[in-house]
Amino acid sequence: FPSHDNGPSTEKCKQLMSMTKHIVVLPGDGIGPEVTNQSLRVLDAVCKKFGHEFQYSFGLIGADAIEKTGDPLPQATIDMCKHADAILFGAVGEHKYDNDHHSNIRPEQGLMRIRKELGLFANIRHIVSHPSVAHLSPLRASRLENVNIVIFRELTGGLYMGERHLSEDGKIATDTSTYNEFEIERISKYAFQLAQKRKRKVTLIDRANVLETSRLWRRTVHNMSSAYPDVELEYMYVDTAATHLITHPSRFDVILTENLFGDILSHEAAVLSGSPSLIPSASIGTKTAFFEPIHGSFPAGKGKDIANPLGSILSAAGMLEYLEMYAESAAIKQAVKWTLENGFVTKDIDPVNFYFTSTIGEMISDRILQASNDPVISENILMRKSTII
Ligand code: IPM
Ligand code: MN
Repeated sequence: FPSHDNGPSTEKCKQLMSMTKHIVVLPGDGIGPEVTNQSLRVLDAVCKKFGHEFQYSFGLIGADAIEKTGDPLPQATIDMCKHADAILFGAVGEHKYDNDHHSNIRPEQGLMRIRKELGLFANIRHIVSHPSVAHLSPLRASRLENVNIVIFRELTGGLYMGERHLSEDGKIATDTSTYNEFEIERISKYAFQLAQKRKRKVTLIDRANVLETSRLWRRTVHNMSSAYPDVELEYMYVDTAATHLITHPSRFDVILTENLFGDILSHEAAVLSGSPSLIPSASIGTKTAFFEPIHGSFPAGKGKDIANPLGSILSAAGMLEYLEMYAESAAIKQAVKWTLENGFVTKDIDPVNFYFTSTIGEMISDRILQASNDPVISENILMRKSTII
């Protein structure tokens, strides 16, 4: 696979307590491969520092897979994913397909189908506002204080996964939304459990005054709530939630919602944080878990080395947490924080004094490998070079 040619991935580093993990990498389209490459570089640094071995398999998905195989999710990718310890995904989508409304084959189908195949029913998006990028938020800084929201978006049901139909004359289109109790219960359990470790509040967002599926969500979640007496359960209509996210985002802690509402509200919340390109996500389910930045494929930025790799790198950190490599994950997060605090940022954050995607990846990797009291070589930083060499 052509990606990931700039890191010591083949290097086997074995020490005491070393772990071997098999990771499937799905770079996808647009900037997906570029940002994913930086995550792999950072994972190599983790491997070196902590003595682990990560074995990578690369799979096709999205427009890339359509070009090469005619299918946005080839069977080989599905098989590979089912045998992995974890999956790191980039992004899918390309303008060519966005503008072709008649095409039956679309890159996004690859992502929808892998969610179904792997039973990835809960997509978890953690929205925090990093102080160093808060000025980029459309909200004034005071409103962003204490914003820390975890959104549980149901991923395998609802309108996105329901049956669709187009009448023969092409003039009537139908999409359907279906949920069953079991699907609601399995994700809600995770939301309640996480709430117990946070501020003990779950907001269920629905449209129960209009939709039958929403009423089922309310009844089901209400029935479950007695098992979590320490957690306050609040119900909110989706239009009110969209408003409150802007007027008073810090009032939310854990949000629980269905597929469509979760998609829209999580992107809204991400943009309010000032840095949607920094937000990672995890999709968990019945098989292997899946980690991806929440941003899209940004086709206009492809190949320019300008995309922000932090969403992907933080997704890789989330993946390590899932693999129970807590110190390793913390090392990545600390290095990311260090870049943000020092203004080592990509063009989306600072359009004038910016660093390239690959430079940020290199800086973070160097930082992880650096002995804690090694000074940073500031001349090299100014020259956009490695910070320690
Ligand atoms: C996301 C993406 C996908 C979604 C698209 C690509 C179908 O935007 O993960 O948020 O919304 O499901
Ligand atoms: Mn989306």
